[in-house]
Amino acid sequence: MKRIIWVITALSATVLVGCTNVPKPEVQKYSDGELSVPSNYKSWPKFLSDIQRADTKQVRDIYINPIGNTTKMGDAFPNGTISVMEIYKAREAADGTPLKGPDGKFVKGELLKIGVMGKGAGWGESAPPELRNGDWVYSMYLADAKTKAPDDTATCRACHLPLKDKDYIFRYDEYFQKRASY
Ligand code: HEC
Repeated sequence: MKRIIWVITALSATVLVGCTNVPKPEVQKYSDGELSVPSNYKSWPKFLSDIQRADTKQVRDIYINPIGNTTKMGDAFPNGTISVMEIYKAREAADGTPLKGPDGKFVKGELLKIGVMGKGAGWGESAPPELRNGDWVYSMYLADAKTKAPDDTATCRACHLPLKDKDYIFRYDEYFQKRASY
């Protein structure tokens, strides 16, 4: 019996020592270009679909992960939010004008690029201070969702930067209005 107690004591001591040696799990920080396209994003809630961009002759679909989708109107998106935007070419007639479907909308052509925006505690610290968009970081990929697009992420930051009041999200109001109507 004594021996068993000794073994148990020795074991728990080892476990305790082991515990103190385990480093605290660090929450990983990402900077621009480091967030990949999440493989399951198509199963996420839609943020907005079929965005008609006449200026660039594109159609865009935006998804948001379930954490981001819990955000209440008027609040900033919580850390852990990821947004994925698919950018499609609008199909064109022979003369270069975008074709329109029976619903009057552009017809989706090939997928051109996939943009990713995500936020986490302290992630924005990696950005130059004058281009800091809160804690959001940016990446852009080609249609295969793996090859980096040549875009300079400073351009992402510069264009999204004025949207500070909307947590740097262009279609903030449209999203919450649409979500409220479901
Ligand atoms: C010239 C302005 C401009 C630039 C540059 C730009 N964006 Fe955006 N972005 C927009 C607009 C406008 C929207 C809203 C959808 C739309 O209208 O096309 C948007 C939406 C997004 C969204 C969906 C979430 C949201 O904010 O609505 C992501 C993700 C995104 N952009 C990523 C990027 C990344 C990554 C880059 C850089 C590689 C980038 N953007 C560069 C204007 C820009």
